[in-house]
Amino acid sequence: MTSALFPQSVIAVIGAGAMGAGIAQVAAAAGHPVKLLDNRPQAAERAVAGIRLQFAKLAEKGRLSAPAAAAAGERLVAVEHLSDLADAGLVVEAIVESLEAKQKLFSDLEAIVADDCIFGTNTSSISVTAIGAALKHPERLAGLHFFNPAPLMALVEIVSGLVTARTTAQTLFATAAAWGKTPVHARSTPGFIVNRLARPYYAEAMRVLSEGGADPATIDACCREAGGFRMGPFELMDMIGHDVNFAVTRSVWTAFFYDQRFLPSLIQQELVDAGFLGKKSGRGFYDYREGAVRPSPRTETLQAAPKTIVIHGESCAAVALAERLQARQVGFTRSAARGDLVAMAGNAAVHVTDGRSATRRAAEAGHADTVAIDLALDYRQTTRLALSVAAQCSAASAAQAIGLLQAAGIAVSRFDDVPGLAVMRSVATLANEAADAVNQGVCDAQGADSAMRLGVNYPCGPLAWADAVGLARIAAVLANLGLAYGEDRYRVSPLIQHKVFAGKALHDSKTS
Ligand code: NAI
Repeated sequence: MTSALFPQSVIAVIGAGAMGAGIAQVAAAAGHPVKLLDNRPQAAERAVAGIRLQFAKLAEKGRLSAPAAAAAGERLVAVEHLSDLADAGLVVEAIVESLEAKQKLFSDLEAIVADDCIFGTNTSSISVTAIGAALKHPERLAGLHFFNPAPLMALVEIVSGLVTARTTAQTLFATAAAWGKTPVHARSTPGFIVNRLARPYYAEAMRVLSEGGADPATIDACCREAGGFRMGPFELMDMIGHDVNFAVTRSVWTAFFYDQRFLPSLIQQELVDAGFLGKKSGRGFYDYREGAVRPSPRTETLQAAPKTIVIHGESCAAVALAERLQARQVGFTRSAARGDLVAMAGNAAVHVTDGRSATRRAAEAGHADTVAIDLALDYRQTTRLALSVAAQCSAASAAQAIGLLQAAGIAVSRFDDVPGLAVMRSVATLANEAADAVNQGVCDAQGADSAMRLGVNYPCGPLAWADAVGLARIAAVLANLGLAYGEDRYRVSPLIQHKVFAGKALHDSKTS
């Protein structure tokens, strides 16, 4: 096994902006001598002073001993010339996001550093293969992609270009691990892992919004409360900034030759055009200006509990509903499974969405009083669920379905009858993208899942989540979304199809 760089190895960090300073802090804290360089006068000195201050603060909080903090600070120096980096064992580049600038920097460095010096680029969107094309020895270059803020975020993507040597990637992997990070290997493809796999979370929410399925506050609340996401998609985009989020989507979409999967949203384009960039500009999907009131999620008024409730089968949703009703002493009976029916509330048939609208399901089943509910990360815990009602369903039956969930202690957000609702649609499309990345050799299943848990704080890796829901259900949701929209965007990953036919899970190895 390839080992990490020794702590005595000099780490050079070029670019003393937000990322470079963070990376320098991580390397110095791990015991390396660190040289920081920036082409803006005084930028490197200021960054070194800032990092020393961070170390002092960590010492004050007791997270680092005072001598360790002082020693880490002393290991950092600001330098002025590339020639000062001749003794580096690893150069980490975190300069401006420009192919030409990065190519020039690395090719200048090749004339200065030793043959065995490793090059890491922190680029988030440029091909590592393309940067390496300017080098005499491109095999020594890999992506070393930290997330912001680098000292706090555990994930590091180790990105191999076409000719990156295995030992280069493995040394960086071991080094990032020695620095206390969780590295994952990725192949240099647009967006690497996180920036590619996260796209559907934003895109599908904006699609539901654009079709009038629900408003941002309601979709956000469902994703947080039922999906267990730390932030809903709209509040998250507002925090990231729409200029940044839109630019990443555009760059991934363009880089994949305009694959419909990554199609940007006109809604977001309009926000960018208006200068509504999110929190930083005071307005985005939400209004952050002084005195603005945050809208509440749409929540149904309280309905009476249905007189007759029958819980069907042993699905997660059915078992959890039964437990919750029992805990609240609401009467119900149990019955054998009937397809994927979760419950009958009076005459209302309640199903977890399979990607069909409730209206289509009602028509196909010949049962007018049909209601769809959303996926929950944990039906035993969820405080809210999205629900949609078939156009054919009577108002009385809709009220019974809503009353059933409320009787179980679940707030109900009624959506317009969009296929897939909020959480199911997100999880199915996230898992589909992750499955394609695995199928195309970008990363393995474990890498995809840990990247999404650590890089964007998802409550569960999308592939493990899809396995837990049941891959056949995920495939059906995607196929039904594809039918509803007639768009290539929802094509089911060959890997998901393969696993469904093989009766296996995504976390079983690819060949099984
Ligand atoms: P930044 O603008 O805060 O810092 C870039 C620094 O590089 C500036 O101080 C600039 O003076 C310096 N610089 C530019 N060209 C240089 C050159 N030729 N030689 C020496 N110094 C030079 O940018 P930030 O946000 O730190 O990003 C740096 C890199 O990290 C970019 O490639 C970016 O795509 C990537 N990245 C950024 C993330 C973020 O959230 N900001 C996350 C992950 C990667």
